[in-house]
Amino acid sequence: MKKYHQSVLLKESIGYLNVKKGERFIDATAGGGGHTFEILRLGGKVLAIDRDPKSIEHIKKKVKSQKSKVKSIEELVLVVGNFNQVGEIARKNGFGKVDGILFDLGVSSYQLEEAQRGFSFQKSGPLDMRMDPKLTINAADIVNNFNQRRLNEIFKKFGQEKFSWPIANAIIRARQIKSFETTEELANVAREVYRKFKVQTNIDPATKVFQSLRIVINSELLNLEEALPQTVNLLKNNGRLVIISFHSLEDAIVKRFFKENKKLKVLTKSPIGPENWEILQNPRSRSAKLRAAQKI
Ligand SMILES: C[S@@+](CC[C@H](N)C(=O)[O-])C[C@H]1O[C@@H](n2cnc3c(N)ncnc32)[C@H](O)[C@@H]1O
Repeated sequence: MKKYHQSVLLKESIGYLNVKKGERFIDATAGGGGHTFEILRLGGKVLAIDRDPKSIEHIKKKVKSQKSKVKSIEELVLVVGNFNQVGEIARKNGFGKVDGILFDLGVSSYQLEEAQRGFSFQKSGPLDMRMDPKLTINAADIVNNFNQRRLNEIFKKFGQEKFSWPIANAIIRARQIKSFETTEELANVAREVYRKFKVQTNIDPATKVFQSLRIVINSELLNLEEALPQTVNLLKNNGRLVIISFHSLEDAIVKRFFKENKKLKVLTKSPIGPENWEILQNPRSRSAKLRAAQKI
C-alpha cells in the first residue's frame, strides 16, 4: 500500500510538544496520523481531527490492522471536523484542557496525489480541490464562473502569481470555447502563458494558480485565523502550541498571533525548517516552517 503521507518535521514537532506519558494532546490536522501515532507511542492521549473523512477512515483502518504498532489505542479519539471549531470539538470529546496542540497545515500527499481529488496538476482529474467533500463550491465552479478581475485577485493575493492577469485572461478566452473540466486543462493554460512570455521556472507554472484556488476553496487562511484564538483557552498552563506551515501567508498569520498574544511565550525565535536529509528524502518538506509557543 502506498504511504498516505510522509510526516514533516516529526522529530522537531514532537520535541516541542514535550510529550509525557498520560498527557493529553490535540492533533488538529490528523492526515495520515504520523504525528498522532508518535504521540500515542510516547504514552500521550490524542484527539485527532481532520476535515477530510478519508483521513479519519485511513487512521481507523491503520489502527484495526495494527499497522500503527501502538498499544494504547484506547487513548485515541478520532473526529471528522474543521479545526475552526477546535474549541467545541475538544470540549465535546473530553479534551477541554490539554498539554499540547499541533497544526500541520496544508494538504496530505494522499490528497495531492489522488487524481480524483483534483489537487494535482501532474495528474489529470476533475477540477475539484475540496478537502471536505461537503463543501458546495469546487475549483471548476470558480474557474468557469468568476470574472477576470476576481480570478486575477485570487491568483495574485493567494498565489503571489506574477502573471495573474494574463492567466485570468487566458482562462476567460478558453472557457468561451469549452468549460474547464480537468486539472490538466487548467494547468496547460498557466503553462501556455509562461511559454508565451518565454519565462523559465524551476517549478511547474501551474503551481501558484493551484495553490491559490485551494486556499480559497477550503478557506484555509480564514480557518486558521478562527482556530488560533481558541487554542489558548484549551491549553493548560505551560501547554505547547506547535504549528507547521507551508507558505508565507500561513506563516504570517501564525507569527502575528504568537507576537500579539500576551498569554503565549514564543519558543522559536525564528521558524524551524527541515534539515537537508529531510528535504532530500521528502522534497515536499522544503517549504515547511515550524513555530512553537508555550502558554504562560
Ligand atoms: C499535512 S496534512 C497532515 C499530516 C499529518 N500530520 C501526518 O503526519 O500524517 C494536513 C491535513 O490537514 C487537514 N486539514 C486542512 N485544513 C483543515 C481544517 N480546517 N480542519 C481540519 N483538518 C484540516 C487536511 O485534510 C490534511 O489531511
